[in-house]
Amino acid sequence: MTEHDSHGLKDMNELVSLCKRRGFVFPSSEVYGGINACWDYGPLGIELKRNVKERWWRAMTDRDDVEGLDAAILMHPRVWEASGHVAGFVDPLVDCKKCKSRFRADKLDPGVLESKKCPSCGGELTEPRQFNLMFRTFMGPVEDSASVVYLRPETAQGIYVNFLNVQQSSRQKIPFGIAQIGKAFRNEITPGNFIFRTREFEQMEMQYFVKPGTDMEWFEKWKAIRIQWHLDNGIRPSKLRFHQHGPGELAHYAKAAFDIEYEFPFGWQELEGIHNRTDFDLSRHQEFSGKKLEYFDEESKERFVPYIVETSAGCDRSLLVILADAYRFDGERTWLTLHPSMAPYKIAIFPLMKKPELLEFSNRVYEDVRKQFRSTTDAAGSIGKRYRRQDEIGTPFGVTIDYDTLSNQTVTVRHRDSMAQERISAEKLGSYVADKFQSWGK
Ligand code: GAP
Repeated sequence: MTEHDSHGLKDMNELVSLCKRRGFVFPSSEVYGGINACWDYGPLGIELKRNVKERWWRAMTDRDDVEGLDAAILMHPRVWEASGHVAGFVDPLVDCKKCKSRFRADKLDPGVLESKKCPSCGGELTEPRQFNLMFRTFMGPVEDSASVVYLRPETAQGIYVNFLNVQQSSRQKIPFGIAQIGKAFRNEITPGNFIFRTREFEQMEMQYFVKPGTDMEWFEKWKAIRIQWHLDNGIRPSKLRFHQHGPGELAHYAKAAFDIEYEFPFGWQELEGIHNRTDFDLSRHQEFSGKKLEYFDEESKERFVPYIVETSAGCDRSLLVILADAYRFDGERTWLTLHPSMAPYKIAIFPLMKKPELLEFSNRVYEDVRKQFRSTTDAAGSIGKRYRRQDEIGTPFGVTIDYDTLSNQTVTVRHRDSMAQERISAEKLGSYVADKFQSWGK
């Protein structure tokens, strides 16, 4: 079979099952029956997640005009008043009095809302009530309102309140950005679709501070940079698109907003948001903190509150897109066409049989290539089964050591996607793989 005869992911359950079986993602607290919409990353999942984060971090901070930050999850409660989250980070919630199902009123068909009949069981629905999505907890031993703190629902605010700390310590001049990766928490009413919408997740956010008037120009630049990042992760172009927020969709802080969307088996959905947030955030923090958050431009001698262009990607969601897009099944074989930069292992080394002379050579090759590439080795089972195990986790190359290897120092390299095999000199394996990765997809 060729790639042509295969098909991509049709049902999310196929991916959920592969992720569990092969150690990418497990249901959280599974021995207790799991906890709704929480997931744990297993040995391969954490490798993939680190690759996603590393690529994003490098793409941001390899630029001279972007600095990194890691702010605390718990912040001063006034932050969330200033940001608008205490008053406005709400979803309208309706409950079914009979079957106790919960729905977001804004996602229900208007006809259903009018009839007040539950779409699951036909029971009576309650009136919509506003539900704040922030998780609340208490700081210190006393559970009173004075000690209420929130688990941050976005990482962005940690960047805004550190704007001057970063700018002054790094001596950056506007325009410049601050990048951060970290956990965020939202008490979503309707989480689901595996790791697509969860209550605890990671964001990769970059806030770019610009002079007012140049904001739309930067907004367009960042849109182009960010979609290219997803394409460079190996995502098929036909599965990505922009969605522009219309006037009814724009968040309270935004002058313009585009989502990068991906076509999942359950439809086109947001993967990343690019927002022109104007001077809303810094002005609000000035107002609520009483501290100036202005920038002084040495050249023009102007003082102003910068505008912010934000790029906000979900880390877990990017990872889900990478897995969903890479999934292939041809009726027999399942494989992940992961880009080498994302694959948890780049090379798998197989001694054809468990014979001491083969194992010895194989170990030498393994120890050699693993200095350069994250690799694995497997001597158990038939060679066909071993190939399939690596296919399922997206390892780009399988390398077999057999008796010919001992006589002429060549190994068989097998390509994950085409299953083509070729013999090359064992000595050249590292440079061969490096060349292939360099020209991948070109
Ligand atoms: N600071 C802007 C902001 O947070 P957002 O559109 O609410 O904007 C940005 O979130 C990204 O974070 C989304 O595009 C998505 O990738 C990710 N995200 C948001 N809520 C999520 C959830 N409940 N589970 C997983 N990822 C989520």
